[in-house]
Amino acid sequence: MALPKEYRIKEQEVTDHALYLRRREFIVGSMVFAVSAFTHNAAKGEQTKPDQLTPKRAVTSYNNFYEFGTDKRSPAKLAKDFKTEPWFVAVEGHCAKPGKYPLEDLVLSQQIEERIYRLRCVEAWSMVIPWKGFELGPLLKSFEPTADAKFVRFETLYDPVQMPGQKRKVLQWPYVEGLTIQEAMHPLTFIATGLYGEDLPNQNGAPLRLVVPWKYGFKSIKSIVRISFEKEMPRTSWNLSAPHEYGFYANVNPNVDHPRWSQATERRIGERGRRDTLMFNGYEQAVAGLYTDLDLTKWY
Ligand code: MTE
Repeated sequence: MALPKEYRIKEQEVTDHALYLRRREFIVGSMVFAVSAFTHNAAKGEQTKPDQLTPKRAVTSYNNFYEFGTDKRSPAKLAKDFKTEPWFVAVEGHCAKPGKYPLEDLVLSQQIEERIYRLRCVEAWSMVIPWKGFELGPLLKSFEPTADAKFVRFETLYDPVQMPGQKRKVLQWPYVEGLTIQEAMHPLTFIATGLYGEDLPNQNGAPLRLVVPWKYGFKSIKSIVRISFEKEMPRTSWNLSAPHEYGFYANVNPNVDHPRWSQATERRIGERGRRDTLMFNGYEQAVAGLYTDLDLTKWY
């Protein structure tokens, strides 16, 4: 399928991105896994072209945010007036410090960084995005989870007046996602509050969203209002809507196809042709250890 013209990277934009990268000091661990990593074509044993940042225009106009419509272009239009101030996050469950925290308190106490992470959608397209935000682990630790906290459940705002997509039962609302506590505490797991050096646009999940770079994009829950520490594996929105298609783990895995299409390759927004999909979205070295005892064909 031909890409819409606006998603093709023009030479000028590539140069801009290179300058942008040089200007900012992206000397963070994630660099090793993202931009400086060359895509390795395992089948042919050769290196292919490096990742380039996806143009900001594409990142902010080609979105999945079903609360604002199922069409990729709807969120940018329908989320324009979404009110993200004031914003509170309820913290619940197995922890010593539950409560309703103002966004400012949560963000101000964290170390803000910029990280470039690939986002690989289950629909087999991908982007490379410079995120701004902080590691989730230290924030979770500040709530002092107890030994019973085996999973972390996240919830998006439920407000059908502001989020017209919630008037339709395309998913069970509010949108819910979850991670094991080990995944949530992993140093790659990130809460984004911005992208391209700016505050997060509403369509990308303002004011704060999860980014789990080795999992399919649907795990990256947007506009979070509730975090709960749970003993049992939580049911998640996509898993509830189609359990045979969307598992709890949702690790990017080129060897396990979605029942209706292959996951072996992907369309990088802004590029011609397709790329091979990498195991754990290219973050295998960092995260494979989390799953050594898991049959990934069963726990997809
Ligand atoms: N979060 C909420 N609350 N609602 C959604 O519909 N879509 C998910 C995820 N987070 C979604 C969500 C999916 S399927 C993807 S691929 C990513 O957001 C897309 O993120 P982006 O629009 O910033 O690229």
